[in-house]
Amino acid sequence: MKLGLFLLAAGHHAAGWRYPGAEAGTENVDLVVRMTQAAERAKFDMVFFGDRLLTTADSHPSMITRPDPLAMLAALSMVTSRIGLAGTASTTYSEPFNLARTLATVDKLSRGRAAWNIVTTFADGSINFSRERHPDHDQRYEIAEEFVSVVKGLWQSWDPDPYVLDKQAGVYIDVARMHALNHRGRHFSVAGPLNVTNSPQGHPVLIQAGSSGPGQALAARHAEVVFTAQQDLPAARAFAQGLKAQVAAQGRDPAHCLIMPGLMPIIGRTEAEAHDKLALLQSFTDQSNALAILTEQLMIDVSGYPLDGPLPDLALEAGAHSRSVLLLQLARERGLTLRQLYHLVASARGHQIVVGTAAQVAQHMIDWVDGGGADGFNIMPAYFPGGLEDFTAEVVPILQERGVFRREYEADTLRGNLGLPLPARA
Ligand SMILES: Cc1cc2nc3c(=O)[nH]c(=O)nc-3n(C[C@H](O)[C@H](O)[C@H](O)COP(=O)(O)O)c2cc1C
Repeated sequence: MKLGLFLLAAGHHAAGWRYPGAEAGTENVDLVVRMTQAAERAKFDMVFFGDRLLTTADSHPSMITRPDPLAMLAALSMVTSRIGLAGTASTTYSEPFNLARTLATVDKLSRGRAAWNIVTTFADGSINFSRERHPDHDQRYEIAEEFVSVVKGLWQSWDPDPYVLDKQAGVYIDVARMHALNHRGRHFSVAGPLNVTNSPQGHPVLIQAGSSGPGQALAARHAEVVFTAQQDLPAARAFAQGLKAQVAAQGRDPAHCLIMPGLMPIIGRTEAEAHDKLALLQSFTDQSNALAILTEQLMIDVSGYPLDGPLPDLALEAGAHSRSVLLLQLARERGLTLRQLYHLVASARGHQIVVGTAAQVAQHMIDWVDGGGADGFNIMPAYFPGGLEDFTAEVVPILQERGVFRREYEADTLRGNLGLPLPARA
């Protein structure tokens, strides 16, 4: 079983920062370092940061301020030695050369532990990027396909071990080992070569986190890890089987595309205590900006509707992203009121919440892996540090005793620990 820590330092629950003992702050660097090191002691495969490119006063507390994930990873590479370092970066609002270079640098600094979460950015970032408009959903994926191909091409700029450093002969580097890309496409013109050489894992691991049809198609071609939000095992299994079939259809080994749904654990000494914890978190939600968060997630203004009546007939915008579709579908299937839906969104934004004892949480995770719904999980503590500490102290030892999770890292690189091959050279 693979484990990632999805690190959102204000807590994944919208009111997690208010939980007794929680330390607040996405910019609390000390907390971020401590949580990453705790995940490393627990032998997590990686720590992962999402990203946002705009902010509003009403956002989820952990999204109002958002330091650059890749800069954060560079710093974390210096205070860790084994854990993978995964960061989100947008194919809609970046240039392939800059991003290939920064990611290669983080991969270098960490000696082969970097990963890139490829996203197309669903929130309109155009206001901050001198653009006239936010490209629509399918166009964003079309741009992403070319973007990812260019980045991968740039990461092929150097054959291994190009440095000669022959002082006598005056040969610094073997330029015959350097290759230009000379890409001219619909959206990008990039000559290359990249001015950073490869790390011990070849290049950063590629993660993809969009679950729509075009998102899955992009994942099938490129992703080595897929992040997704799934609510129950049959749906997770159907998603995993469908995606792995698409990976195989691309001529790739489905075992080299690891599916890691998000999971928020709420752990108590008894099941009742765990439910009490969640109820306390939900009581804080009711008094916060839950409706604004729901509006942001669905991209529909829900502020005018009664909270405790039946769910109003909400129509999603054309090309809405897959999470909005999932949330509305779920609300209709379960007959949720608007208040119940905003609790669901405020809790884990459509990811599954598992409430119970450590043994119950561990069993749930094992059932999902055995049942073909996941290769591992992106753990989303509701609040920090307590939500992570409960998991590492109580659930991880059970997973180790059951023989499904490592006691020691197998390799020095992220690719090695995930069991992924070195990238093929063109
Ligand atoms: C665990 C996880 C983390 C994600 N993090 C981000 C993020 O930080 N920034 C972002 O723009 N999208 C993020 N996404 C992806 C968006 O949900 C996705 O791009 C959006 O849903 C649009 O694509 P889709 O319709 O193909 O799903 C994340 C998804 C998952 C499952």
